[in-house]
Amino acid sequence: MLSEDFGLPEALRTDGVHDFLELVTLEVRPDRHFMVREALEEDLLAVMNINRVCLPENYTYGFFESVLHSYPKSFLVAEVDKRIAGYIMCRVERILSRFQRFKICKAGHVISIAVLPEYRRMGIASSLMKNAMKVLREVYNCSEVFLEVRVSNAPAINLYEKLGFIQVDRIKQYYMDGEDAYLMAKELSSSE
Ligand code: ACO
Ligand code: ZN
Repeated sequence: MLSEDFGLPEALRTDGVHDFLELVTLEVRPDRHFMVREALEEDLLAVMNINRVCLPENYTYGFFESVLHSYPKSFLVAEVDKRIAGYIMCRVERILSRFQRFKICKAGHVISIAVLPEYRRMGIASSLMKNAMKVLREVYNCSEVFLEVRVSNAPAINLYEKLGFIQVDRIKQYYMDGEDAYLMAKELSSSE
């Protein structure tokens, strides 16, 4: 399946700049495909809507815009039949390594990921995560990746564990409503 099938503008086709993008064709239904690509400014309202539908942690348009402008290569969307079905946004931070003692490293921070309910369990979040981690390592030179997740969020915790994340800490009352977060992290090795 080639990107032309999605009617993408020329600029979005695989062209060297975008050649890390993965195009996934689902086997489930011949008319159901998704692709993962870099987010554009015109996707941000759809991304904000997904964020509001899926998560209690919401942000202003200006915040999404600043993340997109600062880290455009690791702000990705999944598209199904020209509709934005999910997103991931990350930023790069210098932190004390969770894996190598006393070492400061560059780490990718997954700020937020969500997939609309009707498009879940199709592998979209896994693809968003894998593509973002590849970019964090290859483009932003991150040696690890981390995120916070509600301790009650079993679907997301399963997703992250399946991708090789481990729980490195529990942050008391991380969320506004008082719930704790697990801090989960993963080393980014060149073999993946
Ligand atoms: N119950 C149990 N395990 C699940 C579930 C679920 N409902 N959903 C996903 N998983 C696990 C499974 O192991 C799954 O593999 P499988 O389908 O082969 O069993 C694996 O995750 C991969 O699933 P995907 O299909 O790739 O995930 P999906 O596209 O459905 O998106 C997500 C998962 C993002 C957690 C989605 O449920 C969602 O948007 N939830 C609401 C928003 C949210 O919680 N986001 C994460 C907050 S933390 C943060 O943003 C850093
Ligand atoms: Zn965070």
